[in-house]
Amino acid sequence: MPGRFITIEGGEGVGKTTNITYIREWLQSRGIPHLVTREPGGTPYAEKIRGLLLEHQEERVDAVAELLLIFASRAQHLARCIRPALARGTWVVCDRFTDATYAYQGAGRQLGMDKVATLEQMVQGDLRPDLTLVLDIDPREGLRRARARGDLDRFETEQLAFFESVRRAYLELAAAHPDRYAVIDAAQPLDEVQRAIAGALEAL
Ligand SMILES: Nc1ncnc2c1ncn2[C@@H]1O[C@H](COP(=O)(O)OP(=O)(O)O)[C@@H](O)[C@H]1O
Ligand SMILES: [Mg+2]
Repeated sequence: MPGRFITIEGGEGVGKTTNITYIREWLQSRGIPHLVTREPGGTPYAEKIRGLLLEHQEERVDAVAELLLIFASRAQHLARCIRPALARGTWVVCDRFTDATYAYQGAGRQLGMDKVATLEQMVQGDLRPDLTLVLDIDPREGLRRARARGDLDRFETEQLAFFESVRRAYLELAAAHPDRYAVIDAAQPLDEVQRAIAGALEAL
């Protein structure tokens, strides 16, 4: 049996990384072999690309250059980490994946969904997550949490309008494929968020 592929998505400060710990414990307590990874990144080479994407740059980064780097790191991550793990029956939990590219580059950077879909097909073929958890919150609150957490990266310094369109894109993706997505109200206290995540995991 191939492993299941679970991704966790949402804007800045929604609680993705916080709740990955909870998902890890949930899988551990059921004896399900799993690995936790993240995007961009997830292998040493892909993590170098992550650095290029998240660090502040002197020159203005072209949106298409950014998009291609994201998919370059994704190709490496899939080839060296995600696909081999799923093939040996290990469940993979990934902090962000291609939905983030639709939301940030397709919508936020206004590159359009078609460009993202073309690269998704090239890099992933038929591979899609089995379950995508979308943590949803007013971006003002998410950014407040992200700021309280520490220094902001190259994406986190975008304007509110950018994050409003990111949020809208996530909700539209989820509405278009309700069988694959679980939208969770991330404004709730953490234990409520985790109860909702557990419900989605049970269903999977
Ligand atoms: N449900 C919640 N209520 C209040 N604070 C939260 C909640 N979930 C996460 N946080 C806090 O918000 C901050 C951002 O969480 P984090 O998991 O780093 O977000 P993300 O990975 O989505 O950017 C952290 O300081 C975290 O402790
Ligand atoms: Mg995070």
